[in-house]
Amino acid sequence: MFSLRTPKQMQQNRISKLIENRNRLEIVNLTESNPTQVGFDYNIDFITSSLTRPESIFYEPDPKGLLEARESVCNYYKARKVKVELDNIFLTASTSEAYTFLFKLLADPGEQVLVPIPSYPLFEHLAQAETIKAVPYNLYYDGDWHIDIYSIKKAINSSVKAIIIVSPNNPTGSCLKKDELDQIIEICLEHQIALISDEVFSDYTYQESEQRVKTIAEVDQILSFTMSGLSKVAGLPQIKLGWVVVNGPSNIATEAMLRLEFIADLFLSVSTPVQHAARSLFESVSHIQTQIKERVLSNRTWLQSQLGKESVCSLLSAEAGWYSIIQVPNVMTEEEMILQILEQENVLIHPGYFFDFASEGWLITSLIVEQEKFKEAMGRILSRAELWLK
Ligand SMILES: Cc1ncc(COP(=O)(O)O)c(C=O)c1O
Repeated sequence: MFSLRTPKQMQQNRISKLIENRNRLEIVNLTESNPTQVGFDYNIDFITSSLTRPESIFYEPDPKGLLEARESVCNYYKARKVKVELDNIFLTASTSEAYTFLFKLLADPGEQVLVPIPSYPLFEHLAQAETIKAVPYNLYYDGDWHIDIYSIKKAINSSVKAIIIVSPNNPTGSCLKKDELDQIIEICLEHQIALISDEVFSDYTYQESEQRVKTIAEVDQILSFTMSGLSKVAGLPQIKLGWVVVNGPSNIATEAMLRLEFIADLFLSVSTPVQHAARSLFESVSHIQTQIKERVLSNRTWLQSQLGKESVCSLLSAEAGWYSIIQVPNVMTEEEMILQILEQENVLIHPGYFFDFASEGWLITSLIVEQEKFKEAMGRILSRAELWLK
């Protein structure tokens, strides 16, 4: 028998089995987070023609990424008044790939990285694929979301090589605060641990805030890695262009960059046409972000209007992102709830456990679904939730 590793996520669950047995086209998908599938207007000619530049026929690879493309990333930060050195930027095919590069750089098999919960359930699987361990620390909610710094301190041991922050976090929509960053930097300094910040949703904040950390790209007291990509920034996940900004005390940052360059050189995974297209792709950002922001705001405002004092459900506060969390009556398991909604209403929505919530009673919806579809499907879920308490 050939031997194959089975990633945990490949095990089928009751929800995926039920979806398989139904007509997928009839299901309203409130988990949809692919911006290319929800009716946004893309500058199709502009984007596709940027990918067919004649110079793309020549292969002149640079493990960090072509200078012109890295300049575009630099300018992206400059427009946000953030100073990033061209030399400290590494292009990757996606943020997910950037995670794997950083795991290769920072941790040996069996070593650990700290990851927030609840959060996007990607880290555990990426870590597993790199044979390292994602160890959770907690976020808690008291009307707003906070990082439980004590749970980070408790999780620290000599095997921990990095702390991962997701800001804004998916799905809580919470952002790193200045006082939280100060405490985390202190921990990183004390234990000589790197800080990784996933900022893919940083352009999608709902309001300005003085306490919020915009980015950690300028943090240089510790070894820091800031990640983002066009998947969310330009609503173009299929383009496959992400990046990492490396920062830190000069000796360790230089050494980290040398080693990261070696890892990137093993793959050279960002295609040349994409790199030549980068400048144009960044120019398309405001056109798509305006539409995404309008959609998110409209769906969230509608949801808020439906979840007043009389409702049995409530909406958790959020500062940013493409998702909303709804607290529902905890009268059955989340799995039963999701199955019932799927079976009776033909609507697919995420359970809290998908994002590792510590307790049950949460539904997570995408906010980028077309407004009419969103209202209709969510309306049916909320009416059903009223029945659960009767
Ligand atoms: C927080 C977060 N990080 C990273 C990713 C993956 O981004 P990419 O498409 O660049 O791999 C996602 C995708 O939804 C995400 O939610």
